[in-house]
Parts: sequence; structure tokens; C-alpha cells
Amino acid sequence: MLNPLSNAFGLDIGDRSFKLVQLGRPRGRKKGYRLNAWSIVDVPDGVMSNGNILDRPKAAALINKLVKSAVGHVGGRTVVACLPETKTFIKVIETNPNETREQMMSAVLKEIEDNIPLPKEEIYFDWQTTNDKLQPATTPKEIKNPQEKISTITAEPTKIILGAAPKQLVDDFTAMIDLAGLAPAVFEIEAMAISRAVLPITNEPETAVGLLDIGATRSSLIVYDRGAIQMSLSIPISGAEITETISQKLKVSLEDAEKLKRKCGLDANRCEDRIWKILQPQIDDMTEKIKNALRFYKIGFPHGRDIEHLLVAGGGANFREIDSVLSRKLTIKVERANPFINIQLPVPKRFPIETALTYTTAIGLAIRAADETISGLRGIQ
Ligand SMILES: Nc1ncnc2c1ncn2[C@@H]1O[C@H](COP(=O)(O)OP(=O)(O)OP(=O)(O)O)[C@@H](O)[C@H]1O
Ligand SMILES: [Mg+2]
Repeated sequence: MLNPLSNAFGLDIGDRSFKLVQLGRPRGRKKGYRLNAWSIVDVPDGVMSNGNILDRPKAAALINKLVKSAVGHVGGRTVVACLPETKTFIKVIETNPNETREQMMSAVLKEIEDNIPLPKEEIYFDWQTTNDKLQPATTPKEIKNPQEKISTITAEPTKIILGAAPKQLVDDFTAMIDLAGLAPAVFEIEAMAISRAVLPITNEPETAVGLLDIGATRSSLIVYDRGAIQMSLSIPISGAEITETISQKLKVSLEDAEKLKRKCGLDANRCEDRIWKILQPQIDDMTEKIKNALRFYKIGFPHGRDIEHLLVAGGGANFREIDSVLSRKLTIKVERANPFINIQLPVPKRFPIETALTYTTAIGLAIRAADETISGLRGIQ
């Protein structure tokens, strides 16, 4: 089957930066993906805020700059982009294993009515069973007998993953990408892209895994458990705030504060422990917020398993010692995620390997773009 996303690339649209990654499939029977092209551009103030587009022409111009400045060749103009975590919804619904597609659809509609704070007419939504992701992507016409697709799981309840996003947001993002002269093919929930990038495609994790994405303006905790994303929660932790604290306390410019943050990190042995001391209250606050999010999962998801393993991703995960500090404070195993877990090594020499985690979401989107066997949530497209 021809891949409708042939030559598509992943586009991560954040408040403070846009990122692009394009992957290719290796020749022959080799597994994994080849890193073909990548780029990042900073987004100045006044263009994006809280996931909203404030200035569409400027945002479109930045996307053009991103494509032009890419290292490697960006083939094609089709885009798999993500929608901001704070504006989207993801939910797992468990249903009887023998339910028909119609019955599942009713369960989905009920879930939307009960739990999504927007009228049905104002959202785009899509859903799939956890089983679907193992199947090749198909168009509705190709599903001759929908029952066939779900009949392979019988004993366990069927898990439906529901994704929803405000129409206004998707329409705005579509208009921005159109204006950049590109063709938006798929919009994905950020949590889907992040988990696809850092969880091994071939092996299901044996325990519940927390994925903490630390961004410039916001962070999120994703819980992957029992074969699906069970929860995705925004946490008010921001890399930019940490830079601001350093800038205020040491009376240096934001630019210098950013440099100090990257150089010293949370390593008490660096920079005469100045940065480490300044950031203590903020780190304690951050730990408390993560603990609350982990508690929320424990209370709100009684069938969920304990999260004993946390992977950190996003630009903020490049922070020196963030893994060991969080591990000590949260008393669970914390590691940096590996955004190359599904990518063929070695990656090209020019790739900035030391800040690879910055590209986590873009890599997850690029995998979706490169692999015709992943169905994703098809409707938000
Ligand atoms: N080496 C480093 N040490 C500490 N922080 C870092 C390092 N590298 C990047 N960061 C921080 O990571 C943040 C950017 O992360 P990321 O690129 O994931 O955010 P974003 O996706 O642009 O923003 P958002 O998702 O909030 O819209 C910035 O606050 C930056 O200071
Ligand atoms: Mg981000």
C-alpha cells in the first residue's frame, strides 16, 4: 500500500520554538528509521502563547524558515504536526470485548458528553482501540468487516483511546500551515508523539511508565500503562521560569542566565554550587507538583499500576543532574528518555546529540510520518 504520508515530516509547534524532523525507512529489511533532516527555530514573543497562535503570518514565516534552515534534505511538503497538550484531551475507555463499532461509538459519544468541557459540535475527535495500533493504517473503505479488526482480543476488555481537540484550534493550526505553503496531513495529540518517540515500538513496557516532558513554558506528565496512554496532565513547570529566577537572583540578563543554567545545571559541584542553591526552592516546588500528578494517577485510576519509573524528555530534560535530583526527591527510578530508541544508530555527526531530548516530540511525529503501519488517531486529520 502506498503511504499517504510519503515524504511527510514531523513539525513540533511550541510556544518558544518550532522543530522539524524527517525520518526515512532504511533500505532492505533493517528495522528502525534513519534520521534524514532536522531543524529548530526560536519563536519570539508575540507569536504564540499558551498554544494559541497570536500572529499567523509570523508563525507561517517561521515555519518556512524552519524548512529552509534544515540540516539534510527535507523532501515533500506534507506535515504531521502536534497540537498543544494543554488544549487537547486524551482518555482511555474500557468496554466489553465483544462490542461492535457502533456500540463503541456510543461509548465514545457518552464520554465526550460527560467529560469534555466543550459541546460536541465544537470539537474534532477520533478514537481507536489499542489493538488498532498494531494493524496497518487503513482507510474506512478498506475495512471490509470492522468486527474482524477487533475480534483478536476477546478475554480482556477492549481499550478505546479517545482524542479530542477544539475545532477552532485545529482550524487555526491548519490555516497557519497552509499559509506556510505546506499540507497538514495529520494533527496529533502531543502525548502520542512523545510516547512513540521514547517507548520501544517492539516491546511493551512491563510496568507503568511516567513520561515527564519539560518544556520552555509548560510541562506534562503522561502515564503509559497496560498498553495505552492512560493520562496526560499539564504541570505548571517551565524551563523559562528557571532561567528567570537565575536572572533575577544573580542580576544577569536572561541570555546569560540561560547560559549559566545550561553550563552549571543542578550539579552542586559546578559553578561553586551557586545555581544549585538558588534553584533549591524551585526544585522542591517542582517535585511537589510531580508528586501531586503521580498521586492523581493513583487515586483517579484505581486499576493503574504504581509508577516506579519516570522518563524525562523535552528540552528541560537536558538539564544537568535533573534525573538524579528528581530520583532522589521522588524516590523512584528517574532516567533521561532515549529519543533514539527507535532510530537507527549512528545518527549523523552534525546532529546536536547533547540536546537531542529537545527533539523528542518532533521525532515521535516524524515516526508517524515515516511509517505507514502506524494508524494513529485517524480522525484528527
Ligand atoms: N542543557 C540544558 N539545561 C537546562 N535547560 C535546558 C537545556 N537545554 C534546553 N533547556 C531548556 O529547555 C526548554 C526548552 O524546551 P523545549 O524545546 O522542549 O520547549 P518548547 O517545546 O519550545 O516549549 P513549550 O513546549 O513550553 O512550548 C527551555 O526552557 C531551555 O532553557
Ligand atoms: Mg514542547
